[in-house]
Amino acid sequence: MEDRILDSGAGQDEVSLEGGLRPQNLAGYIGQKTIVDNIKIYMEAARKDNRQLDHLLLAGPPGLGKTTLSQIVANEMGVKIFITSGPAIEKKGDLAGLLTSLKEKDVLFIDEIHRLNASVEESLYSAMEDFFFDIMLGEGAHAKSMRLPIEPFTLIGATTKTGSLSSPLRDRFQIVFRMDYYSVDELQKIVERSSEILNIKTSTEGAHEIARRSRGTPRIANRILKRIRDFAQIKGNGTIDLEITRYALNQMEIDEDGLDQMDRTILMTIIDSFNGGPVGVEAISASVSEEKRTIEEVYEPYLIKSGFIARTPKGRIITKKTLEKFGIDKTFQGRLF
Ligand code: ADE
Repeated sequence: MEDRILDSGAGQDEVSLEGGLRPQNLAGYIGQKTIVDNIKIYMEAARKDNRQLDHLLLAGPPGLGKTTLSQIVANEMGVKIFITSGPAIEKKGDLAGLLTSLKEKDVLFIDEIHRLNASVEESLYSAMEDFFFDIMLGEGAHAKSMRLPIEPFTLIGATTKTGSLSSPLRDRFQIVFRMDYYSVDELQKIVERSSEILNIKTSTEGAHEIARRSRGTPRIANRILKRIRDFAQIKGNGTIDLEITRYALNQMEIDEDGLDQMDRTILMTIIDSFNGGPVGVEAISASVSEEKRTIEEVYEPYLIKSGFIARTPKGRIITKKTLEKFGIDKTFQGRLF
């Protein structure tokens, strides 16, 4: 999964590599129009009252710009942002350290907030609601509880799965935004903007082709753009035109629908091993040797969104579109039809 060009999870050093491409303010942010329009209002209202922005939950598939948007929010509010993630906060003490270092109105960004452990999550409740942190000092009969005050801050939580967020946590966010995949037009603008920043010559057709095959995801579009630049330099004339884009995508085994080898393996497994479904994610995961969570949070959302897989109460099934894609609509004997 580390090498997957379509993997929309941020790699170890990707956050900094992406850095130069991230817009710094809302004016440079493309797409997610409703969210952008609304967040502008909420920020203006908070600024007018000289208070911190309310806690904000960003939900949606990886790579859509949840971190970018959070950095912009902090930037536009003129405050600092501290970035961490659910799995990185192992103990209550880690969270206490983070929270007590925040200044008034600062933003604490917790990525993958659905992966916080239960005791850390519970201690976040009072921090969010009343801006204090209960901590136990000592052990056993001598243990004493102490209440640490925290500056009023904004928590921005990001999650790929709203469903797995506990309701006490979800209910403590006053603003909830669901980010959706970007349109091809929006992605094309992002590719054109990134080309300019990276000083890459990209034709309109080339940018459009990249946009069309990037699974509605800016992080993937930017990653593909950088790889195609390499092909254009070595195999082409340096310009990203339609021809070199198609050649490079083909070499990278990214198909006409933007699907890569793993996507196709998942689809073919449902067809070949499970008769088209219905099949549970656990069974798919075991068959393709990929973590269940990765299938659920990275691969499946786009396969569902683009109509290659459908979710039913009994499990996942492949669709007619998938059979047509693989040219097996007439011969398929599965239970689907
Ligand atoms: N780069 C990544 N996401 C972006 C967005 N939404 N707008 C502009 N540039 C981006």
